[in-house]
Amino acid sequence: MQNQTKITDIKGSFELRNGVQMPYLGLGTYQSDNDQEVVNAIKSAIKIGYRHIDTAAVYKNEEGVGKGIIESGIDRSELFLVSKVWNDDQGYDETLKAFDESLARLGVDYLDLYLIHWPVSGKYKETWKALEYLYAQKKIKAIGVSNFLQHHLEDLLKDCEIVPMVNQMEFHPYLVQQELIDYCNVNGIQYESWSPFMQGKVFELDICDDLAKKYNKSVAQIILRWNLQKCVVAIPKSVHENRIASNADIFDFELSDEDIAFLDGLETGERTGPDPDNFNF
Ligand SMILES: NC(=O)c1ccc[n+]([C@@H]2O[C@H](COP(=O)([O-])OP(=O)(O)OC[C@H]3O[C@@H](n4cnc5c(N)ncnc54)[C@H](OP(=O)(O)O)[C@@H]3O)[C@@H](O)[C@H]2O)c1
Repeated sequence: MQNQTKITDIKGSFELRNGVQMPYLGLGTYQSDNDQEVVNAIKSAIKIGYRHIDTAAVYKNEEGVGKGIIESGIDRSELFLVSKVWNDDQGYDETLKAFDESLARLGVDYLDLYLIHWPVSGKYKETWKALEYLYAQKKIKAIGVSNFLQHHLEDLLKDCEIVPMVNQMEFHPYLVQQELIDYCNVNGIQYESWSPFMQGKVFELDICDDLAKKYNKSVAQIILRWNLQKCVVAIPKSVHENRIASNADIFDFELSDEDIAFLDGLETGERTGPDPDNFNF
């Protein structure tokens, strides 16, 4: 099943398997400092119209994210707020505790989406049970995973009661992993990208320059539009208001099928971050 949603505007969303609307553009906050930097980024994003914010316990900026939300004046119910359970906190009881601590730091009483950050071997099934419990308790509107390759998902699906609703993966022109996207689509798991700009490295390459010229848009805008037209949720990170705004200026053009295929074809398998089959943290 692939989401057939039309891409309309910054507040538009893909529908998750349980009917929850997940805004297809969000603000990433990895490496946004837990001080005025992240507070300002959140306030700018919300002012510009973003309604989806991605953080994680390990980013150590949940307090700042929560402060930014409060200072923005937005009603909590209008936001799609995501956090993740870190590897050291995996296991059933540990995850329940970590979840409560994230809520406290964020200053909210529920999350829209909670993810297992990495597939820690021997732990992620117990962690998943805790997420299923929290979901049943209505403390999370949707539950999902991150950095799960197909074999991790197949293993989890053997035992889970609820199939993950989202898989957040490294995704950019050098790492498309179309087979994994297809597997997620078939199983009703919304694909979401992290590091869509390869943490900024994509701007040093010239691989998207011709497309940027052709559409009279920036490389960042071409990449984000490609994410959305592939039904991939995107959470670009920036702490600069002008970039946060321009990263959302992607609703006045459409990439052709041919240009999407071109971007898909840039795949080299090169990662910016760790390999989910070989991480040691
Ligand atoms: N689940 C996971 O394991 C995982 C792993 C990594 C990231 N994530 C999530 O995914 C989000 C995005 O990934 P990311 O932060 O790794 O990298 P990214 O979004 O690919 O790139 C962020 C970098 O690009 C710069 N940038 C942003 N917009 C720009 C623009 N329009 N022009 C030029 N430079 C621009 C930013 O700088 P400035 O901030 O200085 O503007 C920053 O250096 C994270 O923030 C986090 O929420 C999840």
